Parts: sequence; structure tokens; C-alpha cells
Amino acid sequence: MKIFAFAGSNSSTSINKQLVKFVLRSFNDHEIDLIDLNDYTMPVFSVDLEKNGFPQEAHRFLEHIAESDVIICSLAENNRSYSVAFKNVFDWASRINVKVFQDKPMLLMTTSPGGYGGGNVMAEAQKFFPQFGAIIKETFSLPKFYENFDLNNGVINPEYSQVLDEKIASFKKQLA
Ligand SMILES: Cc1cc2nc3c(=O)[nH]c(=O)nc-3n(C[C@H](O)[C@H](O)[C@H](O)COP(=O)(O)O)c2cc1C
Repeated sequence: MKIFAFAGSNSSTSINKQLVKFVLRSFNDHEIDLIDLNDYTMPVFSVDLEKNGFPQEAHRFLEHIAESDVIICSLAENNRSYSVAFKNVFDWASRINVKVFQDKPMLLMTTSPGGYGGGNVMAEAQKFFPQFGAIIKETFSLPKFYENFDLNNGVINPEYSQVLDEKIASFKKQLA
């Protein structure tokens, strides 16, 4: 099984990327394709620009998904929604193939330093990603990242750690 993984952030210290990396430890017997949105930087999407064609990064993003069996991602929340970095890739890719996520099973996560754990972007993605071909099998939000996560040990809050373990187990079971 090949896993396509990304954080919906272009921060070099992305907490969402840290969460994705931690979760990927539970999938180390599989092939992992963890991308960085900084490698998919494109001009801000515009209907005028798209008349000249699509950036190769948008095609490449879709190709990585096409070549994978499963998607694991964690979205950053900026001003209650997707980060600009993610939204730009999403918008460009959606103009090539509206089924951006190509009917792949997804483990959808969010985390933020605040107590809501990216709950707004989670709600948005949960509601709308299926319209873009995501088959969301499980979701997980981690609030107060800096209190509940440690770089070496991952999720250190026992309550959230148990929930995450259960979600990962359920996700794996649904893939079997
Ligand atoms: C412009 C901007 C807007 C933000 N808006 C939110 C927000 O609406 N909700 C939130 O929980 N954190 C917000 N944050 C704080 C964190 O950057 C954000 O939670 C993000 O998920 C951090 O994830 P990352 O390190 O993976 O980029 C904002 C930060 C910035 C720079």
C-alpha cells in the first residue's frame, strides 16, 4: 500500500507536518510519499493565468495522489479556514481534475496551538472534501499542540493518544 501524505501548511516548522510524521510511524511497513507544499509553490490561482495552461506542480500533485492508495493529511487552520498554501494547490489542482483526491481513502487531521485544534478547517474539509473525491474514513483533531505533543514521543496526552490510536486502528481496519 502506498500512502500519500502532506500537511496543509508551508511552514518550515509546521505542527501539522509533525503530527503527520508521527502518525506515519504507525504505517512504517508501507511505502510513504510525504510531500512538502513548498515544493508546490505556484502563482496565486487566477482564471486569467489558467488560460495559459496549468503549472506542472499542479499536475504533479495530482499524479502523486493517482499513484497512491491512501491519503493521510493534517490541515493548518488560518483565519478559520485552509492555509493559503494549501488552498492555492487545491484550487489549481481542482481545475485539472475536480476529483482532486481521486476517490482515495483519507485519514483527515488538524492541529493548532489553540483549544479548538483546527476545528473550523476540520469542519470545512469534512463537509466539502468528499465533493472533491475524498473518501474520509477517519478524522482526528489535536488541540493545544504544544501542550499535548512532544517531538520525540508524539501525542503525550494519554486521552488524545488513546483516541488517535483508536482512529488509526479503525482506519487500518477499513483499508483491509
Ligand atoms: C494568518 C494566521 C491565521 C491563523 N488563524 C488561526 C485560526 O483561525 N485558528 C487557529 O486555531 N489558529 C490560527 N493560527 C495559528 C496557527 O498558525 C495555526 O493554528 C496553524 O494551524 C499552525 O499550523 P502549522 O504550524 O502546521 O502551519 C493562525 C496563524 C496565522 C499566521
